Amino acid sequence: MDSPFKDANHIFRDKEPFKEGYTPDEILEREEEIQEYAAALQDIPDGFGAPNVFIYGQTGVGKTATTQKVIEFLESEAESADVKLTTLAVNCNKRTSTYKVLQYLANELYPDEHFKQGTHPDTLWNRIYERLDEISGYVLVILDEIDKLGEDEELLYDFPRAKAIGELENAEVGIVGISNNFKFRENLSQRVKSTLCEKEIQFSPYDAHELRSILSYYADLTFHDGVVTGDVVPLTAALTAQDSGDARMALDLLETAGDIARHEDDDVVTEDHVRIARSEVDRANTRDIITERLTSQMQLVLMATTLLVIDPDGEAKVKTIYLYKDLCDRIDADTLSESRIRDHLDTLEMFGLLEKGEHNLGRRGGRAYIYSLVDEPRIVVETFQEDERLRQGFPASIDALLGAFEASNQSHIQSEFEG
Ligand SMILES: Nc1ncnc2c1ncn2[C@@H]1O[C@H](COP(=O)(O)OP(=O)(O)OP(=O)(O)O)[C@@H](O)[C@H]1O
Ligand SMILES: [Mg+2]
Repeated sequence: MDSPFKDANHIFRDKEPFKEGYTPDEILEREEEIQEYAAALQDIPDGFGAPNVFIYGQTGVGKTATTQKVIEFLESEAESADVKLTTLAVNCNKRTSTYKVLQYLANELYPDEHFKQGTHPDTLWNRIYERLDEISGYVLVILDEIDKLGEDEELLYDFPRAKAIGELENAEVGIVGISNNFKFRENLSQRVKSTLCEKEIQFSPYDAHELRSILSYYADLTFHDGVVTGDVVPLTAALTAQDSGDARMALDLLETAGDIARHEDDDVVTEDHVRIARSEVDRANTRDIITERLTSQMQLVLMATTLLVIDPDGEAKVKTIYLYKDLCDRIDADTLSESRIRDHLDTLEMFGLLEKGEHNLGRRGGRAYIYSLVDEPRIVVETFQEDERLRQGFPASIDALLGAFEASNQSHIQSEFEG
């Protein structure tokens, strides 16, 4: 048999820049934020203290990448100004408590020792303070994805005050907190908010113009010359700007378009590849949300709504609630009250899986909410079919129903839930 692999790649020259840990040499379209960021940290090279800064903005808007760049500049400024500075970067995604962050910091500060899980927190604090006093000077602790600390504020309260309350003599700690969760800031206690959020910098989503320049930069690094045809970058930028303004998503779309061109043995990447990539990426996102973020009860409510959308007999008479109960029976799950189901429908809307419309019930009075699927029903059905248990919830005729639905393209049949 011939090798199933393809010949030399004439589409991509390098894929490294698409990877999560990649740090770009250039940060584009963030001049203002970089200026603000530097101004917020200026006290360090000036020798006036270690400030606290809070950075916020949606996912993929360059918070982490920009921070890395600004810290690089800061370190070199501090060095030329002869100011002692130590930076410690922690991603809280996997270190979701003060304790875990302290354990990580202790291990970073003492490379020859190992602080095990279970080490007393006081020991960790003492050893960290001890070491920071030895190192002396300014210490900037960068807490990326700080919202993962949730309500655990001990670290955010204690570190910035360590010098004032005499825990540290020769060192002073500042915190840079980075978050894509807007609620996090609101939920901080007043005492922490007033220190941590003294200086705030907001990163807004990228517009199409900004995404164009970011994408062009990456396209030059990753594709062979002349492979990306004229409209690919502007289209990718426009589609992403309409949706989220998320650079990570735009880069993902560009890479997927290239993968499709490669897979199809095409010589160049075209707009069509971008459009196909877009539906693949949408499919993958929907699948991620359904499998990773929904509870099993939310999944059942979504399944019931989907069934209602594709089942022509379900149009008016059958309500989501009955189908839902039916489903629960079939897979042997507990059933929830109507009001909990309504909460779940709202959550599904928040996740962008359902769309809610309203209509009046006329003489009967009251209103009804109409829920429709945002994605193609096939995407949702196929995701559920991949799950052993949930698959049982569908009637045996599900494939036929889906086929018939698609054939008649009745995309406007909506499920109904009385409100
Ligand atoms: N202005 C930019 N110039 C160059 N590359 C960028 C820019 N903004 C984002 N990127 C790239 O896009 C990707 C996402 O950016 P980044 O990781 O900084 O987002 P983020 O705001 O930290 O998102 P999250 O909240 O999900 O952590 C990274 O690969 C990053 O290098
Ligand atoms: Mg980040």
